Amino acid sequence: MSIEKIKNKVRSVHDFPQKGIVFRDLTTVFKDPECLHELSILLTDLYKGKNITKIVGIESRGFIMGPILANNLGAGFIPMRKPGKLPADTWSESYDKEYGKDTIEIHKDALDSNDIIVLHDDLLATGGTMLAAYNLVKRFNPQKIYVNFIIELEFLKGRNVFPSEIEIEALIKY
Ligand code: PRP
Ligand code: ADE
Repeated sequence: MSIEKIKNKVRSVHDFPQKGIVFRDLTTVFKDPECLHELSILLTDLYKGKNITKIVGIESRGFIMGPILANNLGAGFIPMRKPGKLPADTWSESYDKEYGKDTIEIHKDALDSNDIIVLHDDLLATGGTMLAAYNLVKRFNPQKIYVNFIIELEFLKGRNVFPSEIEIEALIKY
């Protein structure tokens, strides 16, 4: 199955969660077993042979494919969560996103300087969420940080908020 076929399964919902936003909904991809399987293979193929040790998934939609990707690569999974949800000591970072403001947190013992990390989320819009995630993960001084999305909204130019040397992958573009 091609990326185009998976893209055709994405549901576009106009004016959600607010007027003017076209929401790209992946639940219609995840519910189709063949699409889900193919998506997991395509994501995994991007990072095979790169000795990835941890996938960091961003709450909440980074928690769907993140653990599947981790399992396929023989890596661990780390949840990056909205404030007040993680029970032990955390680092946190606040940010602006396409529709509002938010904060994310990670456990202080989640990663270390030996890790080779893929930061994963479902979608890149303005880049605010992933930049905050990247800044949090950088505090651990890991060997390498890759950035991964299923969907990129290219017209919002979210890619441009990251330092140019970062390897950013997105399978489906709008
Ligand atoms: C969405 C999406 C990304 C973020 C992208 O999450 O899953 O995390 O917005 O936007 P940005 O590039 O402008 O920061 P949302 O904050 O809506 O939370 P959810 O995953 O819990 O639905
Ligand atoms: N997160 C931010 N913008 C979004 C969009 N247009 N569709 C789905 N999720 C989003």
